[in-house]
Amino acid sequence: MTANHDGGVQLGLSRSIRASLPGVEGCTVIDDRPVDSALYSTHRDFFDATQPETPCLLLDLDIVAARYRELRAGLPGAAVYYAVKANADPDLLRHLVELGCGFDVASVGEIDACLAAGADPASISFGNTVKKESAIRYAHERGIRLYSVDSVAELEKVARAAPGAEVCCRFIVRTTGAQWPISRKFGCTEEDAVALLRDAVSLGLRPRGTTFHVGSQQREPESWAIGVATAARVAAKLAAEGIELDLLNLGGGLPVRYEATVPSLETYLTAIERAVAESFATRPALIVEPGRYLPGDAGMIRSEVVLVTEREHGLRWVYLDVGRYNGLVETDDEAIAFPVVAVRADGRFADQAAPAVLAGPTCDSTDVLYERTPVSLPVDLRPGDHVDILATGAYTTPYASVGFNGFPPLPSRCFRSTDG
Ligand SMILES: Cc1ncc(COP(=O)(O)O)c(C=O)c1O
Repeated sequence: MTANHDGGVQLGLSRSIRASLPGVEGCTVIDDRPVDSALYSTHRDFFDATQPETPCLLLDLDIVAARYRELRAGLPGAAVYYAVKANADPDLLRHLVELGCGFDVASVGEIDACLAAGADPASISFGNTVKKESAIRYAHERGIRLYSVDSVAELEKVARAAPGAEVCCRFIVRTTGAQWPISRKFGCTEEDAVALLRDAVSLGLRPRGTTFHVGSQQREPESWAIGVATAARVAAKLAAEGIELDLLNLGGGLPVRYEATVPSLETYLTAIERAVAESFATRPALIVEPGRYLPGDAGMIRSEVVLVTEREHGLRWVYLDVGRYNGLVETDDEAIAFPVVAVRADGRFADQAAPAVLAGPTCDSTDVLYERTPVSLPVDLRPGDHVDILATGAYTTPYASVGFNGFPPLPSRCFRSTDG
């Protein structure tokens, strides 16, 4: 993967360069971001055929479908509720409805998007535990039955605005291994979960079960076992009081292979199945809520190089037309290391690559993608060349600002790479 492709493509991170940069402490050039050449070539073909303006997210719906089917097959009987926050593209939502997928929504806007795509309200979970009462009423009027809560005040809102609704209580799990942690902001204690679900009965609601989130881009498959064991204890305590829970929502967290070391889906699902079998005498109905996993590696952002220049300490800086504020928020603190590929449409790159700091186009000094861990790019990269940012189907377009510095939100184009 180090040689130039025929079409002038060079896989920017493929060579084993590990260098420290003068004046930048602890700085190494990363060389371990995997490029799936089969996936990549479908994106390239679509770009070549359609030539959309850059920057642009290209999303292969057939890859999303493949991920959905893998998940269904690997966790038999579990319902898949796609977490819409990851990417709410209308074509993507319609495609998921056709596949039979359910949805986890966070807001009225996401409810509308799912209903417009043809989703059955019975297959929608209002999973955000911080909702306006008016939003709960809106959801209830449209037939949404399942609501997550993690506080008494939220439970009371649901009881008032969605009388008789089904509730799931979200408890907190303390995990390591998440590249984008979701700790602290959501979730109650195990004891509070028992109390809340007990209170649900007296408020005329139907306690269905519990839910948790192990953190996004979770690299430790055993993390789910912590939540599953807690859920089983909550269910057992309530069962002893005559309150039967029949649902376990395993949340999101399944990772995309931004790094070669991420375990396989099978490893995760095996760990989850084992945890459920060990913790529950009777298997509850399962929901899994992947956000990142479904569209993540189905997406690629094609960007254009705007400027290449040398700055302090002789560092090469490469500025793209996409950055932190038009889609790449998850490069914050360099949390997510997207694979990148340099592309020259009308020629070949030099054989050598060298480290570069990668930055976005806005005037904000925080609009820097990778500086602590510069990326390896061809030494003769220049304005007009392209840089493809891979595995960017999740948490990119929805995060783009409406027009910071006058740069428009990141557009997206869905396509099908196969006939199926
Ligand atoms: C309630 C809930 N479910 C699912 C998800 C999706 O998580 P992930 O993208 O890690 O799969 C999130 C993400 O924030 C969430 O808050």
